[in-house]
Amino acid sequence: MCAFNRLDSGELAVDGLPLSQIAAAYDSPLYVYSGAGIRDAYRDFAAAIAPVNGKVHFAMKANSALGVLALLAHEGAGADIVSGGELSRALAAGISASDIVFSGVGKSKAEIEQALAANIGQINAESPAEVAMISAVAKSMGVVAPVALRVNVDVNAKTHAKISTGQRDTKFGISTDQNEAADLYRVMAADPHITPSGLAVHIGSQLRDMAPFETAYTALLDLGMALRADGLEVPVLDLGGGVGVDYDHATPTDFTAYGEMVTRIFNKSDFKFGFEPGRAIVANNGVLLTKVIFIKDGDNKRFVIVDAAMNDLLRPTLYEAHHSIVPVLPAGSDIGLADIVGPVCETGDYIGRGRMMPALASDDLLAVLSAGAYGAVMASAYNTRPPAGEVLVLDGAIHELRAKRTVESYLAEESIPEF
Ligand SMILES: Cc1ncc(COP(=O)(O)O)c(C=O)c1O
Repeated sequence: MCAFNRLDSGELAVDGLPLSQIAAAYDSPLYVYSGAGIRDAYRDFAAAIAPVNGKVHFAMKANSALGVLALLAHEGAGADIVSGGELSRALAAGISASDIVFSGVGKSKAEIEQALAANIGQINAESPAEVAMISAVAKSMGVVAPVALRVNVDVNAKTHAKISTGQRDTKFGISTDQNEAADLYRVMAADPHITPSGLAVHIGSQLRDMAPFETAYTALLDLGMALRADGLEVPVLDLGGGVGVDYDHATPTDFTAYGEMVTRIFNKSDFKFGFEPGRAIVANNGVLLTKVIFIKDGDNKRFVIVDAAMNDLLRPTLYEAHHSIVPVLPAGSDIGLADIVGPVCETGDYIGRGRMMPALASDDLLAVLSAGAYGAVMASAYNTRPPAGEVLVLDGAIHELRAKRTVESYLAEESIPEF
């Protein structure tokens, strides 16, 4: 069931709570997440991959609000992180270090130290230089680092170029060609400061087709088997994230096809499996509420100018991403196309373009759907606009996860030199 539904009155609600009621209690714009929706998505994903021996590490880059992480941790999720900052967040949310996987192509020495000091479960290394750095840091700390190797199997994920990570010309993973990955795995296995944890792959995000996953997973399995045949320990195959969502209808993701594909490929093998879903757990379980500031009729276009902007939600302009935008209260029939734009001084500052919209007026409340993933986490204070706050609706109660930031808090972080 969708987390955001219309009540009999026609008003849009989250888990039965009218969105206008929530909007009235907080500053606008505002991210609103459905706790029930997030929980259900996590449970559906876990059920789909249950036939294999797996552990889910939520890719917290998609949504790293402490309240969301804690909710998922309570459901049994670990975390996939990409920075020392995310490590601190995951730990603060109550996720144990052994349930954390550290991904990313450029971990600094300090971040590796932080991860090893915390006793992290797995570091996914992507290059010989990184393996050498991890080994040196582990040696200096007198510990043994658990390291998996993220491989690049040269698969086209057929998704947006900016979220495609599986091809050779991207910066991600170590090539499986010419034994590059296998040779580096042997180097890791021979290193007294490293315990090889296995292999990892992540070919991209927002994949709606199972075929690229299947190609990548089969290549990963082949490599894992070949290394094992050579006598090496390969405990884990980390299958990354990437399962896509329906941005047109904002419906919950059906993980059946993904689970069946994973089961078909892997259920005869005795690896442990890691999963790193991000978007599919949270995207359709969040909306960005925004108020109309003005309606501006251009020469041949209507602009609906709202109080949310690209500094709150970057996806439309960064990826040409489509988010449905709907009035929260029942509105009349559509009167024509409009661009829904923010107040930021950039032509690229839009939330949606060329949308059929009803007549709207100042203060009307709109909901930007499917905003739970890669929304608040990408926010900035561009134009000195403090980004939207975040609330979570859980079991009938509204929890403020983070208030809208204030201009004062930003100014307080800065200093002026003496002239
Ligand atoms: C290594 C890794 N794992 C998991 C994810 C999560 O992907 P998604 O949100 O598409 O599930 C990403 C996203 O970029 C990633 O880079």
